[in-house]
Order: sequence, then structure tokens, then C-alpha cells
Amino acid sequence: MALSQSGPARDGWSSRTAFILAAIGSAVGLGNLVRFPAEAGENGGGAFVLFYIACVILIGLPVLLSETLIGRHGQAAAPESFRKVAEHSRKSTAWEHVASLGVLSAFLILSFYCVLGGWVMYYIGIFFADIFNTGITGGAFAGVSVQEVEGIFPAMIANGPVTVILNIVFLAITMYFVSRGVSGGIEKVAVYLMPAFFVLLVGITVYGLFGGAIDQTWDYLFTFEPEKLTGPVMLAAVGQAFFSLSLGVAGMVTYGAYVGRNVNLGVTSGVIATADTLVALLAGLCIFPIVFAAGLSPNGGLGLMFQTLPHAFQEIPGGTLIGLAFFIMVGFAALTSSVSLLEAPTAWVIDRFRFTRPVATVMVSVCAAIVGTLCALSTGSLAWFQPLGFIPMFEGMGVLDTLDTLTGKITMPVGALLTSIFIGWVANKRLVDLENGLGGVLHVFWRFLVCWLCPIALSAILLVGIFPSIIE
Ligand code: TRP
Repeated sequence: MALSQSGPARDGWSSRTAFILAAIGSAVGLGNLVRFPAEAGENGGGAFVLFYIACVILIGLPVLLSETLIGRHGQAAAPESFRKVAEHSRKSTAWEHVASLGVLSAFLILSFYCVLGGWVMYYIGIFFADIFNTGITGGAFAGVSVQEVEGIFPAMIANGPVTVILNIVFLAITMYFVSRGVSGGIEKVAVYLMPAFFVLLVGITVYGLFGGAIDQTWDYLFTFEPEKLTGPVMLAAVGQAFFSLSLGVAGMVTYGAYVGRNVNLGVTSGVIATADTLVALLAGLCIFPIVFAAGLSPNGGLGLMFQTLPHAFQEIPGGTLIGLAFFIMVGFAALTSSVSLLEAPTAWVIDRFRFTRPVATVMVSVCAAIVGTLCALSTGSLAWFQPLGFIPMFEGMGVLDTLDTLTGKITMPVGALLTSIFIGWVANKRLVDLENGLGGVLHVFWRFLVCWLCPIALSAILLVGIFPSIIE
């Protein structure tokens, strides 16, 4: 039975657990598995991790609760939900444009996220093929030189036809689930894939820990090096916390709209943020033992997942199967996230233009495939096309990096900033208090965070993101 109450025909999560799993599925993605471990290791280990956790609790969580609250009150696509809260509070309905911007950001993130999803599928393919070439007992890629294994990645991203096609395949899989609706598709992906994801993550972590490189991993991830926690690193941590919790783009507003009145949003937001952070930490404990056991030193950025790890799988026993399991796990996480990124614009098209869900899903997906094709080619033949290259912060960036920077440094912080101002200062207090499910001290603390800390911190991020020279 659908939990939402605004009309018998309206689709919604079939249970509180389904909502929690879908929201965790949205939050847990490439951000946790690729970016967090790379950043934590490079940028001051324990100090970075602690600072990141503080960002999640003090800035991420209050905004997460604000977003789900707006969605649950509105029971509609994100802009419509913002408008309903504004109307109910007798404030300007222009606030709905915060969500319109969010929907646009979700669309842009979707466009490049599926390109990365395509890369992950490519790696699933090569590890699968390796079972037939190498067998399953020894390390992966028997007889292939290290240079060749590390060369797979640059060759793949430069290969236009491969990246374009895989991007479209990944998008098509995402589209299939979104077109089947909330309880019939989106929820199903989360309910089946998230438990499988956790089993794989824990299994590979345990396997890696037997490799014996626990001490080195612990030192790398948790040695406290506060001097590395510079201004830019702190900003990267806040940005990462927002990306990881899927905030600032109306995605969680959209998911909140399918939640029933009987669900306590304060508690569920806490569960979602905790799970997302634990997965990020576990991802570090999963990846680095394998890297160190193979005697390698981790490199940062995308190279960690797509070059160092495949090389490490070459060195460890059973590397083919572990590598295959690893990339399948990453694929699951990416899919449950891309589904949420597609749902936000799709819900908007359904609400705004009254199209049926399948039609709306196909329309948004086709547009995302077009932008995605530009992203996919931007790491190869289209690298010369730097659409915003004349602006210093986008200098030298192809389409993919431009969209990543534009959303990460501008549209997401703007969306989150305006959301916190909207809930903290504009929306009717009684409405907010009724929806948030918090009591006593927690309620007062949350109010303080949304009204003061979030707007101030987010304005700072935005300013420094656009004018990095401020802190140099
Ligand atoms: N949070 C996901 C990750 O960590 C990515 C993601 C999914 C996302 N939905 C989002 C990011 C909405 C921002 C907004 O990989």
C-alpha cells in the first residue's frame, strides 16, 4: 500500500524501510567509493575524517532533514513542494525556483554520472573476460604488464565509441527502473541492490584485511595530520559531504515527497547520514589494504580506482574474482544513485507537463544522453571543447569537468544555502516544527544549525569556491 496521502492513485514508498534503503542508495555512490577514500588519504587522514564527520553532522544533516521535510509536506515534485511550503507560510512562491535550479543540477550531474557508470561497466566486462583468460585462483590479468594494466584507463576514456555506448547503456538501465515508478522500480532497485552492496563491501573488506596490511591502512587513513587540513582541503570536505548525501539538488526533496506522514524524518535522516558516512569509511578500509598488500602506494583521484586497484588485483590471490566483485559492487552503488538523479527531473516533467511517467522518463533520458555524449567524448576527441574555458575557474576543462565543477562548486552550494535560508527564516515555524520529528534540545540545536551555521558555512564555501584567491 502506498504511504503517501495526497490521492489514492499516487505512488509512494511501500514502507519506511524502502524509503531508507532508497535514500541510502541515492547517497551511497561513486562519491563514497571513489572520491572519499582518495581525499581522506591524501589530505590529512584522521584530521580530514573527523572534519568530514563534523561537516556531515553540523551542515549536511540539517539540510538533509530540511529537504526531506519540504518534500513530505509538498507531496509533489521538488519545485511544487517548495511552492506549497511557501504558500502555506504566506511567502513568495518564487522560492520554487530554488528547486528548479536543483532539478537542473540533478539533470547535469546525471549526464556525467552515467558516463562514470559506463566506465565501471567496462571494468566489470574486463574482469569478467579475465576469468576465461586467467582463471580464478591467481592474480588478475596473468602475463599482462603493469604498464598495460594501468594503460587500460587512459585508452578507455579516449575511446569515444566505447564511452558513448556504455554511457547510453547505463542510462538506459537507469531509465528502465525509473520508468516503472516509485514502488515498482526505484524502490525495487534499492531493496535488492543495497543489501547485495553491503554484503560485497563487507566481504571484500574482510578479504582485504586478511592480506595483512591493516597497520599501513590505519596509518594512512587515520594518522592525525592537522597541518594538512588547509582551507582548500576543508572546502573539499564540505563539498564532498554535500555530494555524498545527495544534497542541494532537490533529489532528497523528491524522495521525501513519497514518504508517509507517519515516518519520523528526524530519525530517518540520522540513519541515512550515518549509513552514508559508514560506507565512506568502510570503502577506505576496503580499498587500501588491497593496495598496500600488493606493495603499491595509492595515487589520488580517479587513478586510485581505475589504475592502482586493477594493478593491485593483479598481485593478490583470487584477484580476478575479487576485482569482478569489487566493480559489480561499485556498479550497484552507482545505479541506485543515478536512479535518484533521474527521478528528480522526471518527477518535475510529470508534474509540470502532465506526461505519463514512461514518456517523461524517456524524454529526460534522451536529453541526458545528448549531454552525456558530450561528456563521454570530452575525455577524448572532444577535449578541445571547453565551453566555459574563458572563465578562470573552468579554465582548461572539457564538458565533463566543467559540469562537475559547475554543479559541485556553484549550483549545489547555492541550492543548499537557499534551502537552509528557506527552512530557517522563511517557512512557517509551526509547519516546520510539525514535520521535523525532533524534540527538546535536538530541536533547538537543529534550528540553530539551519538558521545560522548552514547559511554562513555554505556562503563561505560558495565564495571561496568561486574566488579561491580569498584564502590563498
Ligand atoms: N550521492 C551520490 C554519490 O555519493 C551521488 C548523487 C546521487 C548525488 N544523487 C545525487 C549527488 C544528488 C548530488 C545530488 O555518489
